[in-house]
Amino acid sequence: METIKNKNILVVGATGGIGSELVKLLKSSGANLFITGRNENKLNQIALQHQIEESCCYAGDLTQKDNIIQLNQKYFNRYTTIDFLINASGIGIIKSSEQLTEEEFLQTLMLNVYSPFMIIKSFLPSMKETKKGLIIHVPGVLGKVPMLGSAAYSASKYGLVGMLQSIREEIKRTEIRITNLFMGGVDSPFWDNIDLRVQKDKMITSEEAAKAIWFLCQQPTSGVISEMVLQPFNHQAI
Ligand SMILES: NC(=O)c1ccc[n+]([C@@H]2O[C@H](COP(=O)([O-])OP(=O)(O)OC[C@H]3O[C@@H](n4cnc5c(N)ncnc54)[C@H](OP(=O)(O)O)[C@@H]3O)[C@@H](O)[C@H]2O)c1
Repeated sequence: METIKNKNILVVGATGGIGSELVKLLKSSGANLFITGRNENKLNQIALQHQIEESCCYAGDLTQKDNIIQLNQKYFNRYTTIDFLINASGIGIIKSSEQLTEEEFLQTLMLNVYSPFMIIKSFLPSMKETKKGLIIHVPGVLGKVPMLGSAAYSASKYGLVGMLQSIREEIKRTEIRITNLFMGGVDSPFWDNIDLRVQKDKMITSEEAAKAIWFLCQQPTSGVISEMVLQPFNHQAI
């Protein structure tokens, strides 16, 4: 297993259900963290809880290009290199195409595809300089198998996977690894605004989901895990 200790790690979506559990695991493994989320209060709380200094935090809406530029600047004011980029941000709007508005469709694509693209675009040059790094995203099983009401979400996650597959071709001759975690239902605030009857007690816990990412961070660097699937027992879509 590779060590996480002293690795410079950017966690995007650190204020989310999965992201906040991941921060806890990475911090206790001795990582040098930089955390970002949209909600400043939540981000500050997490920073306080894990003794992460203010210079290693950035709060902002990451569908905005200027904010991604600021995130990059603040990150590189603190660290000179990036070892892992873990993006656990995302939005899920589950509605029939009739109910889904144009704004909701675009909002989903902005956070789940445009934002990851712009974040990678801004941090990849540094990884290319050192010729190594690990990039992890969480497309979810709906990025492999759509379900009723997932037109926007599946479009965004299929798009994310396609984009990452293409970027993978660009970095083939480096030791930069791209890993996608296809996850089934995770009990997190993700479901709070989704009008669907779900059995949260049958879902994967946010802590277990974070452990899967933590596990991926420790894989030997001689190869790459291009994807991993983790699903609840009662809902195995793949
Ligand atoms: N939960 C599931 O069942 C499940 C299953 C498969 C895959 N996934 C994927 O796993 C990832 C994490 O999900 P989760 O369950 O942890 O969801 P979550 O608890 O809802 O967390 C979502 C995260 O995205 C951030 N975010 C939302 N809008 C943003 C914006 N405009 N700019 C910057 N950050 C923004 C949130 O920040 P704030 O809280 O600060 O607003 C939060 O940190 C997502 O990509 C999701 O699609 C989830």
